[in-house]
Order: sequence, then C-alpha cells, then structure tokens
Amino acid sequence: MKIPDIIIAIDGYSSTGKSTLAKKIARKFGFLYLDSGALYRGVTLFAQEEGFINRISVIDPTLKEALKSLDLHFDAEGKLCMGARCIEPQIRSMEVSAQVSPIAAVPYVREWVDEMLHEFGRRGRIVMDGRDIGTAVFPDAQLKIFMTASEEVRARRRYDELVAKGENPLLEEVVKNLRERDYIDSHRETAPLRRAEDAFELDNSDMSFEEELAWVQGLIQGKFGIL
Ligand code: CDP
Repeated sequence: MKIPDIIIAIDGYSSTGKSTLAKKIARKFGFLYLDSGALYRGVTLFAQEEGFINRISVIDPTLKEALKSLDLHFDAEGKLCMGARCIEPQIRSMEVSAQVSPIAAVPYVREWVDEMLHEFGRRGRIVMDGRDIGTAVFPDAQLKIFMTASEEVRARRRYDELVAKGENPLLEEVVKNLRERDYIDSHRETAPLRRAEDAFELDNSDMSFEEELAWVQGLIQGKFGIL
C-alpha cells in the first residue's frame, strides 16, 4: 500500500539530525525533501555578500526590496543555488551560522521564505524540516515530529560535520553558536521555535539511525495503517 499524499513536518533545535532523518523518510517513501533552513541560510549569505548585514548583525531594511530580485532555488540534487551558482558549501559555514538566526527573525524574510515553502507544499508528498513547519508554515501537516537531543551530542555532531567539510572550528564556538541560535529561534516574535501540540517528540541522543527510522515507520504505520 502506498503512503497517502501528505506533508511531514520535522521541527526542532539546531543539529538534532532533522535533515538526516527527513532525507531517510523521503527516500523510503518516495517523497520530496525540502530543507527550509537552507533558504534562511541562502538569504543570510546574500545579505552578507551584498552588505545588508554588518558585523554586529544590524540589518539594513533595504534588504526587503533587494529580496525581490534574489533567485534562490534547489538543483536536481537538492543543493541550494543562487542564480547560476551553487552555494551549498558557503551556506553551511560558521560565518553564515553566526548570522542566520537574526536574519530569520525578520518578518519580511520569513514571508519571503514561506512563499517558496507553500509553493512546494502544493505538490504534497513532501518532508520539510525547520523550526516552524508544523506550527506556522503547515499547521495542518498530517504528521509532525519535534526533534531534540542533548546539547553535548548536538555540538559534537555539528563539530564533526564541519571538520568533515574541511573547516577548523573550535568546539566551544560550535556550542556557543547552537545556544545562541536556539535562544534567538525560540524567543523571536514571528513563528518562534516550539513544539506543535500535536507533534510527536523524538529525543535521539542515544539512538542509532536505524532505531530512529524504525521509530518513524512505527508512527507512520500507526497513523496511516501502512508500513
Ligand atoms: O542545521 P541546523 O538545524 O543547525 O539549522 P538549519 O535547519 O540549517 O537552520 C538554520 C537557521 O535558520 C535556524 O537556526 C533558524 O534561525 C532558521 N530557520 C528558521 O527560522 N525557520 C525554519 N523553518 C528553518 C530554519
């Protein structure tokens, strides 16, 4: 039996492994995976490169107008591009991580990103991860998961990821960035990070990828009567 045309929303704190799980679910059920955080990171890179944000994260309000001509899209491999340029490596850097949460707290930036997300949502059969997918972007999503993990585990995962990409981060910088982003993301006025009341919570601090996927499959089977 086939899984119905649904939207699966995965939200949670930084580096809880949302995208890893979302990609696995997408592959398993033939869904499209959409990384909403990549779009906020793309807008941040644009703001940095074009001088709309300064070192202390003061944002020039003319960014709003400039967004009208910004072309962000995903290529066939799901990598984020700005115009003709693939910007995947740049958007994952510590520089972008350091300023993405202030940018993502700006209401007109969220509107700009939400418009793209809603466009994708119209297709159905999609797994989207982020901070506000189950609460604000798709409050009617048929399955919502809220992910958490201990700070230590999350910091170590992000640190290892950055090292694997050839960066040379300090573990304490990574911890500081996760804390700052979680704080800003949870305390902003527009669409703050929080668990939707009808979201299933998953703490994967001590879980393997296989256990995690089995947990989700159990949920899907329970909810939709399919494996
Ligand atoms: O990979 P990680 O969980 O660390 O972050 P991400 O998903 O790439 O998101 C980067 C940042 O974008 C977050 O810290 C939020 O500030 C913002 N974001 C958001 O506000 N709303 C979303 N739906 C997704 C990301």
